[in-house]
Amino acid sequence: MLTVDEAFRKFKSRLELNDKEQKNASARQTEVRDYIDTKFKIDRSFLTGSYARWTKTKPLKDVDIFFVLKSSEDHYRSKAPSTVLTDFHDALVEKYGDNARKQNRSINIDFGVTADTDDNTDYRVISVDVVPAFDVGDDFEIPDDELKKWIKTNPQTHAAKATAAHQAYSSEWKGLVRMVKYWNNHPKHGEKPVKPSFLLEVMALQCLHGGWGGSFDREVQGFFATLADRMLDEWPDPAGLGPAISNGMDTARRARACDLLRAAERQATLAIAHTRCGRNGEALRAWRDLFGPKFPLS
Ligand SMILES: Nc1ncnc2c1ncn2[C@@H]1O[C@H](COP(=O)(O)OP(=O)(O)OP(=O)(O)O)[C@@H](O)[C@H]1O
Ligand SMILES: [Mg+2]
Repeated sequence: MLTVDEAFRKFKSRLELNDKEQKNASARQTEVRDYIDTKFKIDRSFLTGSYARWTKTKPLKDVDIFFVLKSSEDHYRSKAPSTVLTDFHDALVEKYGDNARKQNRSINIDFGVTADTDDNTDYRVISVDVVPAFDVGDDFEIPDDELKKWIKTNPQTHAAKATAAHQAYSSEWKGLVRMVKYWNNHPKHGEKPVKPSFLLEVMALQCLHGGWGGSFDREVQGFFATLADRMLDEWPDPAGLGPAISNGMDTARRARACDLLRAAERQATLAIAHTRCGRNGEALRAWRDLFGPKFPLS
């Protein structure tokens, strides 16, 4: 029978990007880029966000693609952020119809792929987020429709911090982040407990400390506990450029996240107790209940 440690290793690898998925993501990037090029002056585009950092969870959706505009499109920067978003949206609707939706900082394109009950998509990306961006020195400026402001960001800084944290945690940090983001996406919660899920990664930069202890179950239990303890804190952009990452939730939503993280910690405690008493099958089922179908039972 599968041990809990083996199950966690399998779970971790199921949440990793594989070659087929990367091929599909690249093909979608090229498809969207070829089209956007007919409408706007684009300097370059690249896959970014959690996808590029290996902290994206499954099923693969909302893969971020930055479209860096040439300086001849600078006129947008003196206009409200909604202008560039609306123009990108209008252009993408011509190709993708209702599957292109305007969001706060991007246009989401849904490719009509659905995940099965095991959260598999036959290695296809469900959707991408098209983000219009401008170069500002080594940083970027992107539109924020809610704040009605252009905000600064730096994906390289976020990536460097994630890499450093991963290395300091015996190369287990990104796996743990993907697992907790997978928990966050579980449909049983209704609305995601933590929003944006990037906040979980930002918190993990500080909440996973002291080094890898050697067992996934204890690490996950401790991670949930610390996340709950610190959910009400203020979490600034780790690059020190954009608005606080914790601004995405109001007080009620933070309190709800805190409660759900505590419940997750209790479930982890229960699962660990099963293992301690030799009830391996019950332990696996408890972890599966907590995380969802990608946590293996065999
Ligand atoms: N408030 C912010 N200030 C500056 N940069 C931000 C901010 N929020 C997000 N970003 C950057 O934009 C990227 C894309 O944002 P997004 O919310 O999609 O997060 P993500 O890390 O890609 O997580 P997810 O897996 O949920 O897509 C982030 O990875 C981060 O680099
Ligand atoms: Mg993203």
